[in-house]
Amino acid sequence: METWLTEKFGLSVPVAGAPMANVSGGNLTGAISAAGGLGMLGAGSAVSAEWIRTEGAVAAATGRPYGIGLMAWSMANRPEHLEAVLELRPALVSLSFGDYSQYVETLQAAGIVVATQAGTVADAREAIAAGVDVIVARGAEAGGHGRNAIATLPLLQAILDLTELPVLAAGGISGPRGLAAVLAAGAAGAWIGTAFLTCAEALTPEPIRRRLLEADETDTVYGTVFDAASRAGWPDEFGGRALRNPFYDRWEGHESALKSDDAAHEEYLTAVRAADSTASSLYAGQGVGALTTQPTAAEALATFATYTTYLQAAQP
Ligand SMILES: Cc1cc2nc3c(=O)[nH]c(=O)nc-3n(C[C@H](O)[C@H](O)[C@H](O)COP(=O)(O)O)c2cc1C
Repeated sequence: METWLTEKFGLSVPVAGAPMANVSGGNLTGAISAAGGLGMLGAGSAVSAEWIRTEGAVAAATGRPYGIGLMAWSMANRPEHLEAVLELRPALVSLSFGDYSQYVETLQAAGIVVATQAGTVADAREAIAAGVDVIVARGAEAGGHGRNAIATLPLLQAILDLTELPVLAAGGISGPRGLAAVLAAGAAGAWIGTAFLTCAEALTPEPIRRRLLEADETDTVYGTVFDAASRAGWPDEFGGRALRNPFYDRWEGHESALKSDDAAHEEYLTAVRAADSTASSLYAGQGVGALTTQPTAAEALATFATYTTYLQAAQP
């Protein structure tokens, strides 16, 4: 099936691999693009511009289009991130979570397609006003940071009714059935993160892979505990969806105290460095229950490519 997404970037599967900080480096990004999707580098607020350049070059080496996801809330303090991205000139850049309107024209003038993730219809209206090229309807089921306001399906339908712009669906699309569903609704493709978390090329450390493979669909929780512990600077309006663990349980409801607790901050950082799944953040969406293997990105994408079976099955 051809959609705006496949035609714009020459893809064989209407899937963008969502940008995922600490997970989608150059290898995963390049592997998704090489297999016919659109891989995206996850540039978290803490990475250096050098990291973006190096990992972007790895992704670009496939010769296929790829994207980069930047954290809008951190861009004012990290102008070097935008500079590195403008040097690399990826096919697509997403600016999510914070005010990004001032950067849209600069990127488009460099020939880059601009996306943003909207968690409400109000976010989508702002995206249209800011002049983005494509809107990602990101529902509350999604892994990682964003809003917890509305589930993917009602959000997707409302945004499709709102705009003529291409819309991608994100949140809880864990296999080809979900991809078929959002395409049938009118999305130009899906923006998928969690399903790629245990791919061979992902940066996900081994102990965290094991925990993700064990988890079922009820194991995630949405909140700001890990942001209070990390002190990375996330605005409070954007929490994150992650697997529940003992650290989360201990601090849930005490986020204000956690923000100024130096010992807990150190404990969290140590856990992240050691990939200790009992105290590190384990960002994942509700689709985590579908993760049972550690495929290559090409294998994961080949599974998504069977969505046509489910679209045909829906025809009379
Ligand atoms: C581990 C992880 C890290 C993420 N990091 C980023 C990021 O750096 N930038 C971003 O725009 N979105 C990030 N996200 C959100 C994804 O772009 C996307 O909204 C989400 O993965 C889609 O839902 P799904 O996980 O159910 O497929 C992250 C998600 C996960 C699971």
